[in-house]
Amino acid sequence: MGTSDRVRVGLAGLGRFGKLHAAVLGELANVELVAVCDPQATEVAAMLGRHEQARGFASFETMLDEADLDAVFIVSPEPLHTDQVLAALARGIPTFVEKPLAMTAVDGERVAAAAVEAGVPLQVGFVLRFDTQHALLKSQIARGELGQIVSLRAKRNASKAWFPDYGDRAHSVYETSIHDIDLLLWYAGSPVMRVQAVERHLSGLRYPDGCWALVEFASGAVGILETSWLVPDGAPANVITPTWRGTIDAEIEVVGVAGTGRIRLLDAPLSLWSAGFTAAPETGLWPEVGGSIGGALREEDAHFIDRVRRGAPESIASVADAAMGLRIAEAIVQSAASGTAVEIDPQA
Ligand SMILES: NC(=O)c1ccc[n+]([C@@H]2O[C@H](COP(=O)([O-])OP(=O)(O)OC[C@H]3O[C@@H](n4cnc5c(N)ncnc54)[C@H](O)[C@@H]3O)[C@@H](O)[C@H]2O)c1
Repeated sequence: MGTSDRVRVGLAGLGRFGKLHAAVLGELANVELVAVCDPQATEVAAMLGRHEQARGFASFETMLDEADLDAVFIVSPEPLHTDQVLAALARGIPTFVEKPLAMTAVDGERVAAAAVEAGVPLQVGFVLRFDTQHALLKSQIARGELGQIVSLRAKRNASKAWFPDYGDRAHSVYETSIHDIDLLLWYAGSPVMRVQAVERHLSGLRYPDGCWALVEFASGAVGILETSWLVPDGAPANVITPTWRGTIDAEIEVVGVAGTGRIRLLDAPLSLWSAGFTAAPETGLWPEVGGSIGGALREEDAHFIDRVRRGAPESIASVADAAMGLRIAEAIVQSAASGTAVEIDPQA
């Protein structure tokens, strides 16, 4: 980083979400997107057209070795995260990785331990922790406004049209519910002891179209998680980026002895109607206005860059919770496959 505050960043994975991170990184003060990487040469060429100062790479390791990076963003497909994070940490490079941190609990623990050993910031892309509404609910809970937490109910159903892209790539618990598992850990402030889940296969793809789970926290709180890829194409679109359109029908409700908090993603006050298209754009997560991406995604990336500048180990998005979340995700998948409850030993 030298004497200036300038942070040289590399970005791996230039798909739907990598393009959003690139747009944010291109606008953050004193951040220079110096390298981008994707095995698809067309994606690299398109990105270099927008970020002329950057170098393009097909190989992640080559980018790490040749681009003199202060930080790297990993926005590649889920099964690649563990190896890519370990490769970056082994070189002492502060690392942001999109969710999930890994695809197994063991790999999650390995990566979390590697970050501690490397002594550089690691952050997992739990963007909802940076969303104003979700953060406000957290501060109400932390102030005791809801009293002792009794139940937490979360739903994250996504467009059926997206399922072919994900149905052979990652179980929905790792893809969508992982956000809610992280929120439940954040809000409940307690480890999970027991999980019972069911899933349903309707489309014939490798992973189920939907999965439902009951999770019991050590505190006594009860969590209910629902996720499916069954939102019909006619639903109002709330994701309307230039490269990505569809619906995330998500809700979370936290009930305590003294109060209730609830967030509904589809309750946005803005509606856009045109012939054949109805949208209710979500404006908190990654709104695009005049070519700039704002909202929680920008806050999340800025938080990570700030940690890189300060070498700060602590983060709003806890790596320990991300690793614990993977243990819960794994238990949900095991329970759905076996039809029996799965116990989790938080000390193990
Ligand atoms: N936080 C959120 O709300 C959110 C939302 C969407 C996606 N995501 C996450 O972002 C990540 C990417 O998802 P996406 O929807 O952009 O996927 P995508 O399929 O649109 O893009 C993935 C890109 O990675 C590239 N890639 C493949 N192998 C690579 C490698 N070895 N090195 C570098 N790049 C490689 C692919 O060619 C592709 O361009 C996933 O982890 C996903 O879960 C997070």
